[in-house]
Amino acid sequence: MAIHSIYQRRSIRKFQDRNVPTELINQILDAGRVAPSAKNRQPWRYIVFANEYKNQLLEAMECGLKREEEGITDLPKSQYGILDAKNTSAIMQKAPVIVVVLNTNGRSPFLPVDNDERIVEQCDLLSIGASVENMLLMAEDLGLGALWIANTCFAYKELTSFLNTKEQLTCAIAIGYADESPKQRPRKDLGDIVEYRL
Ligand SMILES: Cc1cc2nc3c(=O)[nH]c(=O)nc-3n(C[C@H](O)[C@H](O)[C@H](O)COP(=O)(O)O)c2cc1C
Repeated sequence: MAIHSIYQRRSIRKFQDRNVPTELINQILDAGRVAPSAKNRQPWRYIVFANEYKNQLLEAMECGLKREEEGITDLPKSQYGILDAKNTSAIMQKAPVIVVVLNTNGRSPFLPVDNDERIVEQCDLLSIGASVENMLLMAEDLGLGALWIANTCFAYKELTSFLNTKEQLTCAIAIGYADESPKQRPRKDLGDIVEYRL
């Protein structure tokens, strides 16, 4: 099961207009819950959005993107990514479910961190990555499609203010029944990324 999902999973950006049973969402979240984490800190919290609540979340996202577009930016070197973020926001509008993933130990990325804090944050974000990948693989296994989304960063302030949290917003996951079957995107060859010192 795991091996099949690892190789078959794709980022899904087109969803059918069909609701996802809550039971399946819970199975996906439970796969996230059992992921490994640094010092077993389990630094994750998931908020599930659908229907009107999802619309409100995306209003906050749109607000942030508009602000960035107008040049009132928190990410001046990342302006080239705004168009892609607008595409992502449109994809999120069509997805029946959005899961927001928070780092419960983290703080705003716009605050300075010292070395110790950076290491802890790195470990917590690695842990959260494992949790999200577990969820994507479980979605694939359940016959659902999902998209891992970090373009939420462009609306960081608006989204965290809407969520009313000081925890770190790491990413979101769009989930639904896939309405496309993308081919695998290119991957580097093993020979180009592995060095053996045997
Ligand atoms: C941390 C992370 C953030 C991502 N953020 C976005 C995003 O905001 N919008 C989007 O369309 N895709 C996003 N993606 C999906 C990647 O573009 C995708 O995984 C990559 O192109 C490989 O394609 P595949 O997932 O189909 O194998 C993200 C992926 C990761 C791992």
